[in-house]
Amino acid sequence: MAAVLTRLKRQANTFRMLVKLMKSILHEKSKARPFLPCALGRAWSICVAYIVAVTAMLAGVNASAQQVHVPDTVAQRVLACAACHGKEGRATSAGYFPRIAGKPAGYLYNQLVNFREGRRQYPLMTYMVAHMSDAYLKEISQYFSDLHPPYAAAQAANAAPAVLERGRVLVMSGDKAKNIPACIACHGERLTGALPAIPSLVGLPRDYLNSQFGAWKNGARKAHAPDCMAQISRQLEPEDIAAVSTWLASQAVPDDMSPALATSITLPTPCGSAPQ
Ligand code: HEC
Ligand code: HEC
Repeated sequence: MAAVLTRLKRQANTFRMLVKLMKSILHEKSKARPFLPCALGRAWSICVAYIVAVTAMLAGVNASAQQVHVPDTVAQRVLACAACHGKEGRATSAGYFPRIAGKPAGYLYNQLVNFREGRRQYPLMTYMVAHMSDAYLKEISQYFSDLHPPYAAAQAANAAPAVLERGRVLVMSGDKAKNIPACIACHGERLTGALPAIPSLVGLPRDYLNSQFGAWKNGARKAHAPDCMAQISRQLEPEDIAAVSTWLASQAVPDDMSPALATSITLPTPCGSAPQ
């Protein structure tokens, strides 16, 4: 009898937690970004992904509490991530969730710590990493960094040729008059990122890119000082951001996505998250 009561209580708690989580996401007034996938006409599939992810996480927690034997591997423990980030972290067709597979482990680790410590804002990401140790986050980061599933096709370049050309010039050469360095100076000539902690810029959806620049501008996304991306984002006018995001999202991914070696990059301005 006591065991049944305990189980019922746990299930009620689980349900209450789920409701609280969903509420915290759906009533987040100050930030439009957590809504974004729901506001794009894919509301229910994405919201169902949330529920699946959280239920999977909670099932894992319950399973370990009941000492049920499940194989305890990283692959097993990160299954919940796939609900939003796609199989093996390859991203989904939802057009917002970023790919995590194949990115430099140092970059992934910095982001997980950023979510945990409030330098990036996404309630479910924060919830998931809130109680994970540095060592565990490192293990997860290395796991996804070592995965190389195929990339999705580039997005259609729905913009005037002049807009795309402006995007290309900013990425390849920057804009001296506006004090914007070329993106390739840090993200590598092929835009595949640089070791140990600079991410690639190809293979990301336009909505996700736009939203990151918005977050840097309004302080919702931060990195350790000096926060070079926040500085650069402040120099970019809204039309520059639209041009850069549209051009980047429409680029085909190179066959060799390996990041540039740290020694091949000299940062034009210092970045706290990628010290040299
Ligand atoms: C409920 C959906 C959801 C689940 C489940 C989820 N994520 Fe995320 N994750 C997101 C979203 C959305 C973002 C982008 C947030 C933003 O706009 O900054 C993100 C961002 C990230 C980033 C930063 C990516 C980058 O390029 O900067 C990493 C790393 C990450 N997630 C890892 C994970 C891992 C590891 C798990 C499983 C333990 C996980 N996520 C589970 C939704 C999710
Ligand atoms: C001085 C070096 C430097 C330059 C120049 C630079 N970046 Fe970055 N960028 C970084 C670093 C470092 C990070 C990782 C920040 C972090 O850890 O949050 C980053 C991250 C990003 C991300 C996040 C990717 C993701 O998966 O979330 C985007 C998008 C980005 N940069 C776009 C650009 C664009 C576009 C330009 C050119 C206009 C540019 N960057 C120029 C250093 C640079």
